[in-house]
Amino acid sequence: MRNTRIVEMLEVTEAAALAAGRWMGKGNKDAADLAAVEAMRQAFDILDISGEIVIGEGERDEAPMLYIGEKVGGGGEEIDIAVDPLEGTNLTAYGQPNSLAVLAFGPKGTLLNAPDTYMWKVAAGPAANGAVHIDATPTENVINVAKALKRPVEDIVVCILERDRHNDLIKEVRASGARIRLISDGDVFGAVATAIEGTGIHLYMGAGGAPEGVLAATAMKCIGGTFMGRFQFRSDEERARAEKMANCDIDEVLTMDCLVNTDEAAFIATGVTDGELLRGVKYFGQGARTHSLAMDNKTGTVRFIETVYRTGNEKFWVRMD
Ligand code: FBP
Repeated sequence: MRNTRIVEMLEVTEAAALAAGRWMGKGNKDAADLAAVEAMRQAFDILDISGEIVIGEGERDEAPMLYIGEKVGGGGEEIDIAVDPLEGTNLTAYGQPNSLAVLAFGPKGTLLNAPDTYMWKVAAGPAANGAVHIDATPTENVINVAKALKRPVEDIVVCILERDRHNDLIKEVRASGARIRLISDGDVFGAVATAIEGTGIHLYMGAGGAPEGVLAATAMKCIGGTFMGRFQFRSDEERARAEKMANCDIDEVLTMDCLVNTDEAAFIATGVTDGELLRGVKYFGQGARTHSLAMDNKTGTVRFIETVYRTGNEKFWVRMD
């Protein structure tokens, strides 16, 4: 894949963030999501790619745009694309931290076509690479990350989605001595934050969306961290769907290589609301400023990119009227 793709694809998440950011704090998560989806869909159109959405807004009959299997781009290199135009719709709607516009891409046939079910996930950054395992207990993972980072367990912060299903996990992590950063939504942030120094998050554990798992796994593969997943089906229908879509054993550990079967994938996220990882979109009358993170597995680069869009750039300048 061409390395310059990163810059082109960056404009796609920037477009989604610029559109969604207008809805910050307006209490309307559907409108925020729709704005991001429409802007992202439009931004794909002008790229010389033959992209296929493998992770998207849902099945064809439930999503008008960016549905699974949709072809995007004006024609060119064949690539798989995983998108979450607005990761953390509630976070945006209520002006809370760490909502992101996210995508990952790789050569055709390389990204796991994960169904919309749950996935148990464990992630840790490059400094703790190999220290965590999905079959280890939460306590073991905390202790091993602390050892890898050469610090006491009390200095470890675990990010966990605040859900009733995580009550036992939270109890055990508290008992281990580690501290917890509870988040109300947005576990792509939670996993990726473990790999970026300064976020104050060292380990991510818990169950969240399987599609978000593929996005996070791509980021962790690019940056040399660890990500492991395991599907958690809520019904036979979800299991059947996974059997149809996934190209690896759906009852086994989902390794990074199974989730992202290439060394040429890339991950891009643009901040919608301010957070520990990225700053949100700032509108200032004459334009807007975005802050993004782009990771490229092939070149091993991790870029933090600030972009200013001046008013008059009809291509991306989004207003709510
Ligand atoms: P949105 O689709 O509203 O953006 O939700 C994002 C999210 O919080 C993910 O980050 C997470 O993986 C998933 O939802 C958790 O699902 P649930 O809310 O059902 O626990």
